[in-house]
Amino acid sequence: MKKVGVIGCGLMGSGIAQMSALNGYTTVVVEVNEEILKKGLASIQDWLEKGKKRGKVTDEQIEAVRKNLSSSTQVNAVKDCDIVIEAVTENTELKKKVFKQLSDLVRDDAILATNTSSISVTELATVVKNPERMVGMHFFNPVPIMKLVEIIRGLATTDAVMAASREFALSLGKEPITCPDTPAFVVNKLLIPYLLDAVRMVQDGIATPEDVDKAMVHGCGYPMGPITLLDYVGLDTTLHAADVMYAEFREPKYASPVLLRRMVQAGRWGRKSGRGFYSYEKR
Ligand SMILES: NC(=O)c1ccc[n+]([C@@H]2O[C@H](COP(=O)([O-])OP(=O)(O)OC[C@H]3O[C@@H](n4cnc5c(N)ncnc54)[C@H](O)[C@@H]3O)[C@@H](O)[C@H]2O)c1
Repeated sequence: MKKVGVIGCGLMGSGIAQMSALNGYTTVVVEVNEEILKKGLASIQDWLEKGKKRGKVTDEQIEAVRKNLSSSTQVNAVKDCDIVIEAVTENTELKKKVFKQLSDLVRDDAILATNTSSISVTELATVVKNPERMVGMHFFNPVPIMKLVEIIRGLATTDAVMAASREFALSLGKEPITCPDTPAFVVNKLLIPYLLDAVRMVQDGIATPEDVDKAMVHGCGYPMGPITLLDYVGLDTTLHAADVMYAEFREPKYASPVLLRRMVQAGRWGRKSGRGFYSYEKR
């Protein structure tokens, strides 16, 4: 693989494009308009500059990103890519539209990857000419730091495409694991019930948010407690993931506690809205 396309330059797409360019791939990132693109590229720049100040990013890496990364508001820009990773908003119809376009545009043997957290790879592959080259590549936030990539095999995905995607993740310095096309894959299947249980504890008055966090940090050596993590991930994102899993599996462990739903309804989404279980206003 030499040339990489990334669709979407939001939180995840910008990180994926950065890591691809930094590791020597000619990379082109596509956004819907110049304004959003500029914001995404600025976040990459910002990340690199802060990393350099902290001694974590070298001048060579900054130069590699400058040299290898280009951007466009036209999806045509990815037409000669060997792999295209889609990281647009989590919406099935939008993603299908993007993959239909890509399928008509790129070479028949180019790999089409989705960074979706909850949509079936097999379902997205239904709009693609040859679904055997469609795969899930689920990166974690923040992409430059988190090492894991879940490589998801759709029903039609070939062994060759799985192997090539794994190799690509390794070449970005990541630790890939493979997983079938099942809702929430591996991490969220473990993580979401854990987060929901933490909310249930608070809801039922068993422990305060602070004590739930302390319990897991000091009792289990976790770097961060579940309530703090929830505020990071976003209560809305967690609720969405839980609802998708509950709809699929109908198991009580995926059913959202009422408190989580009420907090989302009240706009207490965590850090991004200034308030979740903890307050981040003017901090
Ligand atoms: N945020 C996370 O922690 C996280 C982690 C793993 C996976 N994901 C998944 O990654 C994907 C992107 O999430 P995000 O958090 O980066 O969202 P985001 O909202 O930060 O970015 C999505 C970007 O896609 C752009 N976009 C929409 N339609 C487009 C199109 N047709 N062409 C090009 N760009 C388009 C939007 O303008 C936006 O900038 C989602 O599928 C999400 O589920 C997110």
